Amino acid sequence: MKKIGKVYGVILAGGSGTRMNSATPKQFLPLGGVPIFIHSVRALLSEPQVEELWIGSNGDWLDLATEQIAEFFGNDPRIHLCEGGADREGTLLNTLAAIEAHNEIGEDDIVLIHDAVRPFATRRIIRDVIEEMKACDVCNTVIQVNDTIVQSADGTVISGMPRRSELFAGQSPQGFRIRALIRAFQQLDAETRKQLTETTMVCFKSGMPIHIVHGEFFNFKITTPYDLQVAESILDFVEEQRNK
Ligand code: CTP
Repeated sequence: MKKIGKVYGVILAGGSGTRMNSATPKQFLPLGGVPIFIHSVRALLSEPQVEELWIGSNGDWLDLATEQIAEFFGNDPRIHLCEGGADREGTLLNTLAAIEAHNEIGEDDIVLIHDAVRPFATRRIIRDVIEEMKACDVCNTVIQVNDTIVQSADGTVISGMPRRSELFAGQSPQGFRIRALIRAFQQLDAETRKQLTETTMVCFKSGMPIHIVHGEFFNFKITTPYDLQVAESILDFVEEQRNK
């Protein structure tokens, strides 16, 4: 059994949301009258084990982020804001640097990293990730896929048909021992760093075992205007599920 030290939350809110086709980055758009990233912050803060929460936001939108945080959380001392980076991992690294600049990070301290545009994380998922971190250094939230997934190397002909029972789609939050994650990033060469599409890959490439916990289908990432409409229409359903 591994020890869990201080639990930090990170909300990645530095994206520009090009696929949403909106002048304002999607994380600041309203969902049920509340900015999308505020739902995500609320979700992480609903778990009292999360002691400190850092939001990495797009530099051009720091004023709006500050305003929206003040409107919904007042002066909550757990919430901190810092500037994001050029890609998701860049935002994460800047946010981890800000956390390190303000805290003495120990080997047992962990971070839960969550996409700002995944507003429907539940306390059950967050707790499961923290609990699983007692057995590992890295933990991802995933869901088993319902559709058969096929592989196509050239986009025209199927080149592989992996067994569905072994396939899962990644979600967030993702849990990491902070020191171990920083070490894994330091070992990456520039080329591999460019190919990353998600943080757990950093650890996978350095050979660390990655545990999984089960997410929820409704814990999806808002990417397009269609996703935002779906999110609006399931708000009440998700609220019910969260209170069960
Ligand atoms: N993200 C980030 N910093 C970046 C890019 C992305 O913090 N430089 C965050 C987004 O804000 C989001 C999550 O990573 O919460 C997933 O990003 P995604 O939706 O895939 O990317 P966006 O850049 O927001 O959107 P798009 O790819 O459509 O431009």
